[in-house]
Amino acid sequence: MATWKTLTTQDSASPLMEQLLFFHDHALMILLMITVMVGYIMLTLFFNKFNYRFLLEGQTIEMIWTILPAIILIFIAMPSLQLLYLLDEVNNPIVTVKSIGHQWYWSYEYNDFKKVEFDSFMIPKNETSEINFRLLDVDNRMAVPYNSQIRMLVTAADVLHSWTIPALSVKIDATPGRLNQVSFMLNRTGIFFGQCSEICGANHSFMPIVMESISIDYFMKWISKMSEI
Ligand code: CUA
Repeated sequence: MATWKTLTTQDSASPLMEQLLFFHDHALMILLMITVMVGYIMLTLFFNKFNYRFLLEGQTIEMIWTILPAIILIFIAMPSLQLLYLLDEVNNPIVTVKSIGHQWYWSYEYNDFKKVEFDSFMIPKNETSEINFRLLDVDNRMAVPYNSQIRMLVTAADVLHSWTIPALSVKIDATPGRLNQVSFMLNRTGIFFGQCSEICGANHSFMPIVMESISIDYFMKWISKMSEI
C-alpha cells in the first residue's frame, strides 16, 4: 500500500540526486508563486468594476509581462543546465560495472576483476519469502562500494531497455549496438531498487534492478568470492 513517503520522490542516495531534488523544489516554488499570483489576479477580476473604454495599448505593462517571465525562465534554466552537465561528468571511477539488458533480465560484468559476470533475474511471485520484495527483488544482486565513484556501462543484447535507479538519479537507455556511460557515487550504504523503464516487451515489468551499496572491505570480499566461482 502506498504510504505518505512512497507518494513522493525517493530519498537521495547520491550527491547529484540530492541536488536534483533541490532543483525540483526550487522549480516547484517558482511554479507555486506564479500559480498563486495569476489565480489571485483572475479571482479579483470577478469582483471589481475596472473598465476603461479608450484602452488601445499599454506599452509599459507589455514590457513587464514579457521580460519578467524571461527572467524567471533564466532562473530555472541556469541551475538546470549546471546539473545537466554535472550529471554527465565522470571523475576517476574506481569500479566499472557493465550492465547488459536482455529480454527479460539484466546481466552484470565487473571487467576490472577476473571472470566476474552473472545474470540477475527477478524472483518469481510464488518463490518469494518474507525477506524478498515482491516484484522488485532479484536472485543475484549487484554490489558497489559506497563513497566511491562508480562508472556504469550500459548496453542491450536484444531490444531497448533502460537501466534505472531513482535514488541515484540514474536512468540510461540500454541500446543494442551502443555502449552508454553514466557515473555516480553513493553516499550511504543500503539496498537500492530500480526497474527497466523502456517498454521492452511482455515481461518489461519483471526485470528489476537491485543494487547493494556496501563498504569497500565487504565489496572486496564479495568480488573475490565471485571471481573464484
Ligand atoms: Cu527491459 Cu523494459
